[in-house]
Amino acid sequence: MSRSQTAIAAAVEQAAHVLGHEAGERQDAFRLRQRLPSRNSLVFFYDGVTSGASGIVAKLIHGAQGGQLAESEARRLRDLATHFRGGDGLRVPRLLACDPVHGIVVTEEVGGVRLDVLLRQALHLDRPAVGDAMDRAVVACARAGRWLARLHEIEIRSVADVRPFLIARLDAAIERLAAIRITTWELERIRAYFLSVIDTDSGARPVLHHPDYSPYNVIVCDGGICVLDHSEVDVGHPAEAASFWWAHFEWLRLLPWIAHTRTAALQDVFLDALATGPLEPAWKRWGVVQRLSYMTDVPASGRHASARDWWQRFWRRRLMRWLRKQEWTT
Ligand SMILES: Nc1ncnc2c1ncn2[C@@H]1O[C@H](COP(=O)(O)OP(=O)(O)O)[C@@H](O)[C@H]1O
Ligand SMILES: [Mg+2]
Repeated sequence: MSRSQTAIAAAVEQAAHVLGHEAGERQDAFRLRQRLPSRNSLVFFYDGVTSGASGIVAKLIHGAQGGQLAESEARRLRDLATHFRGGDGLRVPRLLACDPVHGIVVTEEVGGVRLDVLLRQALHLDRPAVGDAMDRAVVACARAGRWLARLHEIEIRSVADVRPFLIARLDAAIERLAAIRITTWELERIRAYFLSVIDTDSGARPVLHHPDYSPYNVIVCDGGICVLDHSEVDVGHPAEAASFWWAHFEWLRLLPWIAHTRTAALQDVFLDALATGPLEPAWKRWGVVQRLSYMTDVPASGRHASARDWWQRFWRRRLMRWLRKQEWTT
C-alpha cells in the first residue's frame, strides 16, 4: 500500500470510530465503491457494510497545499455546521475525520443528484421535458440563493478591508487569462477596470466567501441542498460568489444546445432568493471573467487529450469574443 492509501485507510477507520463502530469492526466497516478524480483532488466513495448504514466520502487533496487545505476545510465544516443544520433544506456535509498531514477530509456521503447534472436535464434544448427537472432546478437555485444569503449573515469581525482579497483573486484570474491569445495591453485595461470597480465598492462589508460557488458543488438531496468544497472558503465581497454563480449560467448560454429563457429564469430565481437586489453590470463582468478564466487552463493530456484540446480552443475563442465585446470603462 502506498503512503496515501495507508493514510486514507486510517482516516476511514477514524470516521468509523466517529460513527460509533466498535474497535474490532472499524477496519471492515466500509467498502470502497468508486474513485472519482476531480480537478484538485481524488475522491473515494465508500459504502457502509452493515445494512442501512450511510456511505462516506474521503477526499485526498493534491499538491503542496493539500494538508493545509484539508485542515481548513475541516475547520470550516465544523463552524458552518452550526449555521446549516439542514432543517430548512440548507446543509453542509457532516465532517467525520481529517488528516492534515496527507491532505485528507472524510465526510458523510450526501445522497442525491449534483445540480450540474440536474441542469443538464433541465436546460438541454433536445430534452425539454426530462421529468420534472426544471421544477427541481428552480427550487434548488432558490435554495442556493438562500444558502449564500445565510453564509453572508455569519459575522466576521477580524477583517475590515475586503480589497486585498479582491485584488488577489483579480490577479489570479488575469494570470489565467494570459494563457489565451490576448495582448498585454488588453489585459492591463481589464485589470485597471476591475481595480476601479474594487475601489468604488471598497466600503462593502466583508463576508465569508465560497470561491467555487457553482452547481458542481451543490448536491440536490432529500428535502434541500448540500453545498460542498469548503477548503478555500475565505473572506470576500458579498457580490463575488453571487456573480460567480450567476456567471455559471451565463457560461452555459454560450453553448448552442442550452435553452436561454430557462437559463435566465434560473438566474433570476437565484438572485431573488439571495435578496440583495440586481447584480451590477461590473459584478456580472467580474463573475464571467472569473468563470471563463478557468476554461483556459485545462491541461490537455491523457486519454481524452484531443477532445479536451478541442474544448479548450472552443472556450478560448468564445472568451476572446466576449472580452472584445465589453466596454472596459466605468
Ligand atoms: N459528502 C459528499 N457526498 C457526496 N458526494 C461528495 C461529497 N464530497 C464530495 N463529493 C463528490 O466529490 C466531488 C469532488 O469533491 P469536492 O469537495 O467538490 O472537491 P474538489 O475540490 O475536487 O471539487 C464533488 O463534486 C462530489 O461529486
Ligand atoms: Mg468541487
